[in-house]
Amino acid sequence: MRLVERADEFALLEEILSGTGDMSSRVIAVTGPVASGKSELLNFAVDQAEAAGFTVLRAIGLRRQRRTPMAVLEQLLLGGEQPRERSESVAKQLDAAKFSALLKDPDSEQEEHVKAHTIRSLTTAMVSPTKERPVLIAVDDMHYADIPSLQCLRHAMEELRTKPAAVVLAWRTGLRLTRPLFGAGLLRQPGLIRMPLTTLSGQAVAELLREYLDEATARRIARDVHRISGGNPLLVRALVHDLLPGSEQCGRRLRTPHAPAVGHAFRQAVLSCLHRVEPSVLAVARGLAVLDGAAAEDTLARVLELSPEAVALSLRELEAIGLVDGGTFRCPAARDAVLADLPPDDRTALILGAVDLLRQPGTEAPVVARHIIAADAVVDAQSPEAQWEAAPPPPLRDCRTSPASNWPTASVEADRTAATSG
Ligand SMILES: Nc1ncnc2c1ncn2[C@@H]1O[C@H](COP(=O)(O)OP(=O)(O)OP(=O)(O)O)[C@@H](O)[C@H]1O
Ligand SMILES: [Mg+2]
Repeated sequence: MRLVERADEFALLEEILSGTGDMSSRVIAVTGPVASGKSELLNFAVDQAEAAGFTVLRAIGLRRQRRTPMAVLEQLLLGGEQPRERSESVAKQLDAAKFSALLKDPDSEQEEHVKAHTIRSLTTAMVSPTKERPVLIAVDDMHYADIPSLQCLRHAMEELRTKPAAVVLAWRTGLRLTRPLFGAGLLRQPGLIRMPLTTLSGQAVAELLREYLDEATARRIARDVHRISGGNPLLVRALVHDLLPGSEQCGRRLRTPHAPAVGHAFRQAVLSCLHRVEPSVLAVARGLAVLDGAAAEDTLARVLELSPEAVALSLRELEAIGLVDGGTFRCPAARDAVLADLPPDDRTALILGAVDLLRQPGTEAPVVARHIIAADAVVDAQSPEAQWEAAPPPPLRDCRTSPASNWPTASVEADRTAATSG
C-alpha cells in the first residue's frame, strides 16, 4: 500500500539524505500518536540514506529494555557489519558503560549514568565513520530508549553538528513527556527539524481507497471509512482488509463494495493501538467502553480512580489516535472490541465501581443500570437500579417527586428507550 499525505516529509528527507546538499548535521524528530506512520517515515529515511551511500546506524527502543543500560547504543554500534577489532573495542566500552549505569537509578535523567571518558570513546565510535561516508543514526520508538544510551547519544549529536551526518528519531507522543531532559536538549539542536504526524484527512483516505476501488466507490465510501477510523492509517488499512480480503496482498482493484465492513482486522487494529499506549489511556478506553461514553469525565475519573487531568489527557490521546470523538468511540465495533478484550474480573470491578457511584446523589443512574443489565451483572433484585429497570416507566411528574429517586429526570425517558431498544 502506498503512503499518502506524507509528500512534504518524504521530499524533505530525500533532500537531506540525497548526500548532495548541505552536509552539516540535521536532527529530524518524527513524532505522532500510535500508528500514525512514524516507523514508515523512519524506514523511508533509512532506505534513502542507504541508497545515497550513508553508513546507517539504527536501533529501536523496546518497552522491555527501557531500563536496560545501553540497550539502544549497543544496537547502534554493534548492529551492522564491522571489523572484528572495532566491535571488540566498542563492546568493551559498552560493558564499562553498563557497569557504571547499573549503579544509577535507571529512571533518573538527572544522574550521569556513564563516565565521561566512556562517553567520549563511544561518541568517537559513532562519529568516526563520517571520515569516510556520511552517517545516518536512526532510532525508532525513542520513548522506550534507556537513559544511559540517550546520554551518550546526546553527546554524539553535539559532536556530529559539523559533520556530514543526519539523526532521525521517532517517538510516540502521549500523556507524559518521556525523557523530558533529552527532549529539552533536542530543542537546542540548531539543525532540528520537527515532523509531527497526525491522522489522515478524508482526502487522503479517499486516495488510499482509490488503489483498490474505482473512483466513484472510493469517494462514496471514503467518508464512512474516515468517520470510523478517524484517519488513523492502521485502522484505515484494517478496514481495507475487512472490506476486500486479500486485496492488500495481491495489490489489485477488487470488486465493488457498497459500504465499509467492520470486521476482525479492524478490531485487532483497535486493540493493537490500545495495547501500545500508556496503561492509563487503555484504562480510560475500557472505562469509556463499559460506561458507553455516556459518562462525564469526572464520573470516569471516579470509577477508574484516576485524576480528572489524567482522564482528560487520556481522552485527548484517544481522540488523537482516531478512536474517540466527543467522548465516545467513533465506532461501536471499536467499543465491542475493547469490551471483549477486558478481563471479566476487571469488567465486573468497573461495573461495580459505577454502581457505587450510582448510589451517590447526582450520578447518571439510568445509564449505569443499562450497563448492569447488559453485562448480566449480579445485582440485588431490590437494588434501586434493578427496580428501575423492572418498573414500568413512571410519568415524568411522578419521577420528579419520587423521594427515592436521585436521578436526573430529563434524561430518564431517553435512556430507558435506548436501553430497551439497544
Ligand atoms: N501515510 C500513510 N499512508 C498509508 N498507510 C500508512 C501511512 N502511514 C502509516 N501507514 C500504515 O499504518 C500502519 C502503522 O504505521 P507505522 O507502523 O509506521 O506507525 P507508527 O506511528 O510507527 O506506530 P507505533 O506508534 O505503533 O510505532 C502501517 O501499516 C503503515 O503501513
Ligand atoms: Mg512504530
